[in-house]
Amino acid sequence: MDIDQAKQRVQQLTDEIRFHNHRYYGLSDPVISDFAFDRLMAELMDLETQYPELSDPDSPTRRVGGEITRSFRQVVHQFPMLSLSNTYSEEEIREFEARVTKALGGKTEYVCELKFDGVAIGLTYRKGKLEQAVTRGDGVSGDDVTANIRTIKSIPLRLLGEGYPEDFEIRGEIILPRSGFEQINLQRTEAGEEPFANPRNAASGTIKMQDSAEVARRNLDCYLYHLLGKNLPFESHYESLEKARQWGFRISEYTVRCTSIVEILDYLDTTEKARKTLPFDIDGVVIKVNSRQQQALLGSTAKSPRWAIAYKFKAEEASTVVLSVDFQVGRTGTVTPVANLQPVLLAGTVVKRATLHNADVIAALDVRIGDTVKVEKGGEIIPKINGVELDLRPFGSKALTFTRNCPECSTPLIRNEGEVAWYCPNENGCPPQIKGKLEHFISRRAMNIESLGEGKIELLFDKGLLHDVADLYRLTYSDLIGLEKTYPATEERKARTVSFRDKTVENILRGIESSKAVPFERVLFALGIRFVGETVAKKLAFHFLSMDQLRVASMEDLTKVEEIGEKIAGSLLSWFRQPGTDQLLRRLSEAGLRFCVDATQNSFESDRLSGLSFVITGVFEKFSRDQLKKMIETHGGKSVSALSSKTSYLLAGAGMGPEKRKKAEKENIPVISEEEFLRMLGKI
Ligand code: IVH
Repeated sequence: MDIDQAKQRVQQLTDEIRFHNHRYYGLSDPVISDFAFDRLMAELMDLETQYPELSDPDSPTRRVGGEITRSFRQVVHQFPMLSLSNTYSEEEIREFEARVTKALGGKTEYVCELKFDGVAIGLTYRKGKLEQAVTRGDGVSGDDVTANIRTIKSIPLRLLGEGYPEDFEIRGEIILPRSGFEQINLQRTEAGEEPFANPRNAASGTIKMQDSAEVARRNLDCYLYHLLGKNLPFESHYESLEKARQWGFRISEYTVRCTSIVEILDYLDTTEKARKTLPFDIDGVVIKVNSRQQQALLGSTAKSPRWAIAYKFKAEEASTVVLSVDFQVGRTGTVTPVANLQPVLLAGTVVKRATLHNADVIAALDVRIGDTVKVEKGGEIIPKINGVELDLRPFGSKALTFTRNCPECSTPLIRNEGEVAWYCPNENGCPPQIKGKLEHFISRRAMNIESLGEGKIELLFDKGLLHDVADLYRLTYSDLIGLEKTYPATEERKARTVSFRDKTVENILRGIESSKAVPFERVLFALGIRFVGETVAKKLAFHFLSMDQLRVASMEDLTKVEEIGEKIAGSLLSWFRQPGTDQLLRRLSEAGLRFCVDATQNSFESDRLSGLSFVITGVFEKFSRDQLKKMIETHGGKSVSALSSKTSYLLAGAGMGPEKRKKAEKENIPVISEEEFLRMLGKI
């Protein structure tokens, strides 16, 4: 496609998408399926990435407030998003300072900053305009959340002043100030929805929302703390932040320079005391070497830079009494013990339950009914128990026994060798597991039946319309119309009513119908076979090409496939051997699901690496250089032979020459290992 054709297609797609947006959101009367709509959107996004010059700020892919992102595009970070090494001890901060001083051969200057408790974000700017906002993801690639981020008022869409580099990335943290958090939770409780556990969860939930207009209403904020790019014109980190502030970014006032360990420890102390007076949550302090040259000298490990460290504040704890212990069955059959506690106030909320994780944790803690325990609130809704106060143990208490039978279906529990969890093996007959399988089946990365959410699946299950995933394809309009059920409030959820009216039913049926076009590898993943995740499903699908060939494969055939070991193979064999499997597969095949690989698919797996170029050097453990090259290409990237300032990554195996490494360092090109590369592709 040449540029003129691309331009024409972009215009055509833009018009079509606008039309469908209006039908869907304006008139609530869509004329195409969600699936078909997503395809148009994906095509437009692809063209816009391929031809950035054609992408218009008003494009439906990036409209402010009101733009809907159905599913976030995955973007590979130009510089991997590292994390920080963490410590809770002042002693380790002293050790860090000593290490740095030794490595640099003398005193150095540090910058101390707040450690914001939010969601990391990378913003890329080009010629002074916000180009893209990407979440951390797994550090290698994240979600493109630009549309939502554009609604945050403290993030400049165009930079002020001048002197900013033509291309750079600035990273920081999206946070929700406590006032905004309380307001949202108030609205949620009034609407009968579950409140968020903490501002960080609320911020993270908000930036992943599909409707940016709703994001705009939530008053998120963003503090920036790290500038990246090739050949940046700054001597020090502090200077880069000062400049960034002048260009319009929000930089914390609490960012200070220190030149001694005494000053650093003093900052830790003052900040911990002042913590409660800040309008937002922090979970510690970050200490960074100020000079950029010294940062480069110190370098990074695969996970974190050696020039920075995070000092984390200890979590708040409270003491309370264990009243009883329940066992809960999760969606994958795992049974989790949960302690019911005497209600206690902790970090601003009343805590009534705490997870005990598994039988090993119960044994290690030796927690008993009537015990006084220390509870800590981590990031999750359910807090955890840190320890038992043995002095306060009531006389005559008995050690807890882990239940032997499933609390939902009474099936005897089993525990596999080498695993900590007990689980219920009745996967096709145990209600939470059936619901779990159905929810997994319809999820975005599986069959992507978005019109059926968790509540709707539960209703259909409770009404006896769904016993397994094949039942979905038998549902008719008259089965669904008018269905309604009110769910009473529980500990975790407020009361709510789910009901099916005309539009809902049409959308559900349309969603189910479109799922028949989902490719074989995703169908295989959707079946929810133990240990068959997305990557394994892909490997199996592309190796065996059809369900018919996969189902007759032996242990030997299966383990020949790259990355398939005996554990996965064993799980597949036992799944195919299960009594109901043949019939289930027959029904799904009759319903029209894809049971073989589409022949045109092999040469293109994803566009994860689109726009990135790689130089491959050295010898690798798992793949040959040719295989790696092929992988780069099938994921939309380019493999080039010589390093230049335009190279995105140097993929280095064993025995790379020192010259290459030097050159990469000089050009600021990240050097990645085979493992990091495979992680980039989501293969590990
Ligand atoms: S610097 C390579 N500075 O903490 C350095 N991170 O545990 C990268 N964070 O992923 C990070 N406040 O999300 C830095 N002032 C700050 C920070 C900060 C919060 C987060 C960030 C990072 C995580 C690491």
